[in-house]
Amino acid sequence: MEIGFGAADHLIDLAQRNPDVAIIGAEPFLNGVAKAVSNIDELGLENLFLHHGDARDVMDHLPDHSLARMYVLFPDPWPKARHNKRRIITEQFLTEVVRVLRPGGDFYFASDIIDYVDWTLVRLRQNGKIVFAPDSPRSWRTPYPNWPGTRYEAKAHKAGRPCHYLQFKTAA
Ligand SMILES: C[S@@+](CC[C@H](N)C(=O)[O-])C[C@H]1O[C@@H](n2cnc3c(N)ncnc32)[C@H](O)[C@@H]1O
Repeated sequence: MEIGFGAADHLIDLAQRNPDVAIIGAEPFLNGVAKAVSNIDELGLENLFLHHGDARDVMDHLPDHSLARMYVLFPDPWPKARHNKRRIITEQFLTEVVRVLRPGGDFYFASDIIDYVDWTLVRLRQNGKIVFAPDSPRSWRTPYPNWPGTRYEAKAHKAGRPCHYLQFKTAA
């Protein structure tokens, strides 16, 4: 499942590379959903399921341990302190992530906002059921394997902001 797929760059690539895996994408931004739909049509993808709206509404309906992977890529940063509480990464959200991921499931979080990276690391540590699991000591500085890039990542690069690619796992 990918949460907040934006222009669907990563979502479509993921679906194309994994034709035998069912993939869910959730996004409230209508233009992004329209782009995903037109890509599905053009490429004849049969493994992609879209929700136009809040990803948490989909998660509420998912059975326990039903997902292998979740991606939250460059989520809205809400940088002002008084808006921080609008960030998607919250204690309650992470409890749901742990519930829907299967044992040994992967949770990917990428951001160019260092304060949001810290925020997420702290909350995952507090949760305790999902652990930081980088492939190598420096892997959080390099994109995930087979990474197609995303629109917001490109914006961050253009603005000179380094991006961080974190990987976590639920207990096996
Ligand atoms: C900064 S954009 C990043 C888009 C894309 N992942 C990228 O890297 O280019 C964040 C996206 O998350 C979406 N979003 C915000 N809240 C969401 C929610 N509760 N559920 C699903 N998507 C959400 C926004 O509409 C927006 O498209």
